[in-house]
Amino acid sequence: MCGIVAYVGPKDAAPILLEGLQRLEYRGYDSAGIVVANKGLKLRKVKGRVADLAAAVPARFKGGLGIGHTRWATHGVPSDVNAHPHLDGEERIAVVHNGIIENADDLRHRLEADGAVFASETDTEVLAHLIARAVKETDTLEEAVRKALKSVVGTYGIAVIDAERPDQVVVARNGSPIVIGLGEKEMFAASDVAALVRYTRQVVHLEDGELAVLKADGFHTFTMDARVTSKEPLTVDWDAGHYDTGGYEHYLLKEISEQPETVARTLRGRIDDRFHVAHLGGLNLTPHETRAFRRVKIIGCGSAYYSGQIGAQLIEELSRVPADAEPASEFRYRNPVVEHDTLYVAISQSGETYDTLAAVQELKRKGGRVLGIVNTVGSAIARECDGGIYLHAGPEVSVASTKAFTSTAVAFALLALHFGRVHDLSPADGRRICEGLRRLPDQIEQILKQDEHIAALARKYATNPSMMFVGRVRGYPVAREGAQKLKEISYVHAEAYPASELKHGPLALIGPEMPTVAIVPDDELLDKNLTTLGEIRARGGQVLMVGHRTPDAKLAEDAIVVPKNEIELDPILLTIPLQLLAYHAAVALGRDVDKPRNLAKSVTVE
Ligand code: F6R
Repeated sequence: MCGIVAYVGPKDAAPILLEGLQRLEYRGYDSAGIVVANKGLKLRKVKGRVADLAAAVPARFKGGLGIGHTRWATHGVPSDVNAHPHLDGEERIAVVHNGIIENADDLRHRLEADGAVFASETDTEVLAHLIARAVKETDTLEEAVRKALKSVVGTYGIAVIDAERPDQVVVARNGSPIVIGLGEKEMFAASDVAALVRYTRQVVHLEDGELAVLKADGFHTFTMDARVTSKEPLTVDWDAGHYDTGGYEHYLLKEISEQPETVARTLRGRIDDRFHVAHLGGLNLTPHETRAFRRVKIIGCGSAYYSGQIGAQLIEELSRVPADAEPASEFRYRNPVVEHDTLYVAISQSGETYDTLAAVQELKRKGGRVLGIVNTVGSAIARECDGGIYLHAGPEVSVASTKAFTSTAVAFALLALHFGRVHDLSPADGRRICEGLRRLPDQIEQILKQDEHIAALARKYATNPSMMFVGRVRGYPVAREGAQKLKEISYVHAEAYPASELKHGPLALIGPEMPTVAIVPDDELLDKNLTTLGEIRARGGQVLMVGHRTPDAKLAEDAIVVPKNEIELDPILLTIPLQLLAYHAAVALGRDVDKPRNLAKSVTVE
């Protein structure tokens, strides 16, 4: 959510900043700006996309120090003035910021009483004024930044430059990510490695409460009370190619299409055919410890939460250990009871979602044991957890999550297999699940081949103002994820209900204008689901059935038939056509598929 990029070195900063912002645009895209230091600060910022900013930056915008930002508005509407960077009144200090300064109003009143004149409505401008005042009373920029941040309540990832010190940039983190990129006699910083991989794969992640000074020839990190910290650089696996559309029209279609490979990567090296178990070295749990957990509690936000619902079902079915999932955003605020014999599992593609991170921190504070199922290596949630499973799905750029969703469900299948086999899952059932997992990539490939059929259905159904998604037990999280995908990228209203609940209220909505997508796997609940379809049809509702067999025309007028796997693993496959349905509906309606309105990838604010 919002993107930061910073550069100091011998090259001109502007093209590097613009390129970095382009890579970060998926994190926020209502306005963008850059500032470069060269005998004073040169600033350009515009409402709109990074391409609009690039058009507004003159060719001669020279200077080897600069910071840039792409914004997702929190304080103040998207506009030229509210775009970052923000400067103090004397145009000496420039700041870009992700996060929210909670006491911004209070600080603003105090600064105004002291003569400061504000240009924007943003909380960030407060930081520029505070640092500009502090820099006159301190010997270094880092001291000034530390001093200013001491009066701030809230979350931030910031980059700061000072026109009078054109050889350095100071960055700081509290709740919003900052990554330093180490170059050859040049240094970079960004809120996300996506902006860095074109220039370097050597990175250092700042921890909350840490700051860093970057100069062309090196960097040093320290804490808010000026204690120097030592950092080991990490090598990032992903390169610039991972961030291209790879010839696809949209990142979303690329990411949906990558799933045979990304699922295979999540599975690679993790299935043991000798004992029919999962190899999950990163869990940091002995079999004895695993057996001692009497419950599993899963937390995540949005689609991550829905994949957690699939995970909870898998864990209960394969190990008979009670498991449930809850939105991390709710969990963290309800003073959760944290039990020593519950295993907590936090899910996050980005590893930076603030609500999930805060929930993990709350759990850790209360002594809970937390595993992370995370895609981004070295991210805040991954570092905070006691162990976990990396997805290895590669960077997900499109705002709507697809390949991370399926890989998370696959990671849960592995975790459930692990749990099951240290409890009472038989070797034969273990083998059945291992074989089912191995079939997934090819079966996903077969579903992707139905792209044209699904696109035609999407064009037909996208003309409706609203759609219902229903599923029962294993199918319910699939229905929720299907509705989520449709509404977030096509803006067609979609509701998801357990099929069993239809009669208790939502059936009143059913009619010719409200078609239903019904998730109907061939499992022990098939007959019950078919009865529900009959009830919908009797009320004049159209039905698109997603399942394993071609339905009777009386029960559903359209169908998407997917290959059958083991009943426990079927939800993973049933999700894929719903991703394509949402994608093609969004395209048919002319939506901005990869950057849906009002949303941003990686929600690093509350
Ligand atoms: C939906 C979507 C969001 C994310 C949620 C959590 O398509 O992308 O609902 O799933 O914001 O994000 P992560 O997984 O990065 O924590």
